[in-house]
Amino acid sequence: MSKPDLSIDFCGVTFKNPFCLSSSPVSNSAEMVAQAFEMGWGGVAFKTLNSDRIPIIHPSPRMNPYHYNDKKLVGLQNVEQISDRPLKDNLLDMLYLKKHYPDHVIIASIMGFSVEEWEFLAKAAEYNGADMLELNFSCPHMTVEGSGHKVGQAFHLLEQFTEVVKKVVQIPVIAKMTPNITDMTEPAIFAKKGGADAISAVNTFRAISEIGHDDFVPKPNIFGIGARSGYSGPACKPIAMRFIADMAKCDDLGIPLSAMGGIETWIDALDYLLVGASNLQVTTGIIHYGYRIVEDMIEGLSDFMEGKGIGKVSDLVGKALDNIQETDHFDLDRQGVAEYDLDKCIGCGQCYIICRDAGGQALEWNAEERRPELIEDKCLSCMCCQFICPVDGLIRYKEKPKGWNRRETAVMNPGLEKELKYKPFKANV
Ligand SMILES: Cc1cc2nc3c(=O)[nH]c(=O)nc-3n(C[C@H](O)[C@H](O)[C@H](O)COP(=O)(O)O)c2cc1C
Repeated sequence: MSKPDLSIDFCGVTFKNPFCLSSSPVSNSAEMVAQAFEMGWGGVAFKTLNSDRIPIIHPSPRMNPYHYNDKKLVGLQNVEQISDRPLKDNLLDMLYLKKHYPDHVIIASIMGFSVEEWEFLAKAAEYNGADMLELNFSCPHMTVEGSGHKVGQAFHLLEQFTEVVKKVVQIPVIAKMTPNITDMTEPAIFAKKGGADAISAVNTFRAISEIGHDDFVPKPNIFGIGARSGYSGPACKPIAMRFIADMAKCDDLGIPLSAMGGIETWIDALDYLLVGASNLQVTTGIIHYGYRIVEDMIEGLSDFMEGKGIGKVSDLVGKALDNIQETDHFDLDRQGVAEYDLDKCIGCGQCYIICRDAGGQALEWNAEERRPELIEDKCLSCMCCQFICPVDGLIRYKEKPKGWNRRETAVMNPGLEKELKYKPFKANV
């Protein structure tokens, strides 16, 4: 089989691969982006342009890492603003990149504070080499109404600004969504009504990642003050994936999706493709490991596709969507239990403790042998024992034959039944 084709069409623009730098410090200048392109990235969403109307000053320090035990940078909180560089410098950088890397895609991220500013920035970006625009309706640090995530939460405004931009440019327009809402399909449909060609998501989640225990100031601590501000990285991925899947499954939307939120490896990239994204963007993964992670993404995804006999990356897009349903679709007649390969057991007893304290009390502990003994029909198949078992492959899920039932929950004090004040509620369905 010839090498899998990683190129992808996104709104009529060809990306040599779906991997892009997202708008942030990793896409701040031509020098940086050129280096990233050399390493293999297919495109860039340039750091959000500012129109020089007001000087941008970033708070200092501007980020706080969220480490969880030994795992570094599970999340990242930042209070960074849009670009603090003069517009002219950013535009010259885009022109440089377009000239020297014509087969790479330049997406200009813009954010206006008025109709005129949206128009101005859109035209300036298109005129100076941008292949696409990304409208930043999602910066979580904007406090002024009608800007950043405040637009992303005011759907008619979002539609209006998209429409304003679409009227003045020819290039495709992507609307970048805030995750600081419940249902992303709603604003996405407003963006589509305004003419958006695609949706990108997610920007950062408003969060508080850590509080100083000496001074009680949330971090990053900007001289005694913290803020609810943007949180990104692997900890956000499951929630961001759900937003992408929601939009991909929404029949009324039906426009291409660019996904981001916690992508670090080819596996993360694959996951987002499977739930319907055809373009992928990264920031925190690069802040953690550098631009070189794209090498793993290209190689890993190519190997995976080769192994599965998949020739084109576009064939992976949305492949998991039919398997994502509401919980009332489950076949409850099919049940299973945990199964133990005790030859592998090291006798640590963690399964016993977890089953006793959080599961079905389905394990007895044979203290002499230092081995768990499973009472199968008490097993809830919660599989918590498997999550915490330090030995891979020792505990597995096993389906039971149809019609098999778990043991009824034991009532500890049957004598108390008469004293029950609240009888079990029977729903009338
Ligand atoms: C320090 C920092 C600055 C950012 N600045 C911008 C920005 O200027 N414009 C924008 O649209 N998104 C900005 N983002 C959001 C990212 O582009 C991206 O949406 C988010 O971080 C989720 O992706 P990730 O988990 O790969 O970081 C910023 C993120 C970080 C961490």
